Amino acid sequence: MRRVAVLASGGGSNLQAIFDHLDALGADAPATVSLVASDQPQAFALERARRRGVPAAHVPRGAGADVLTGLLETHGAELVVLAGYLRLVPAEVVRRWAGRILNIHPALLPSFGGAGMYGRRVHEAVLAAGTRVSGATVHFVDEQFDRGAIVAQWPVPVRTDDTADTLAHRVLQVEHCIYPWCVAAVARGAVRLGDDGRVHGALPYEFARFGVEGPRHPFVPDL
Ligand code: GRF
Repeated sequence: MRRVAVLASGGGSNLQAIFDHLDALGADAPATVSLVASDQPQAFALERARRRGVPAAHVPRGAGADVLTGLLETHGAELVVLAGYLRLVPAEVVRRWAGRILNIHPALLPSFGGAGMYGRRVHEAVLAAGTRVSGATVHFVDEQFDRGAIVAQWPVPVRTDDTADTLAHRVLQVEHCIYPWCVAAVARGAVRLGDDGRVHGALPYEFARFGVEGPRHPFVPDL
């Protein structure tokens, strides 16, 4: 059972999806969330953790890398999962947990990512560019925003009547589908970052079925 630390700055709906997925796996769950930490003391993600009895910590913005490192070590974090975490992960932490930090981004990287590309801004940029497809990307984390090796992506069609809010809503539903699967796959060792900087292994068969099962995949009714 891998101990997972989740870092979040906001509402934590992806954190909730991870909790729910691990609950659903029951005794087969390959991971347990041992810590939720946030740079925002009021983040609802922290409240979600407290309600489950999971340690919840506030890491002030100005805190040095050693504060985060100490916290992750204290809680035995083997895998670090960014779920709407808006701060750059310090290089020291990236090195210490190399290949064991995941992030989810609400667009198809390498487009529409990088510093300043978060939240509504991502979807506004997608709409401004006029692309017809957006989506969600899960990737390993390196020293730069949204640049690490890609684990999984799932497309979400952009509708001509989309606003940043409607697009964000549909992308978020897809995030909730794919992120828990990726976290579990990495926790199991089924997917890993190789020394060559590439992703090895494969997501489970169930992941591929999202696209054909209809109700399990929220974008299907929109096609
Ligand atoms: C998600 O869209 C995620 O992709 C991005 O921030 C948002 C977080 O949402 N990194 P939540 O806090 O998980 O609800």
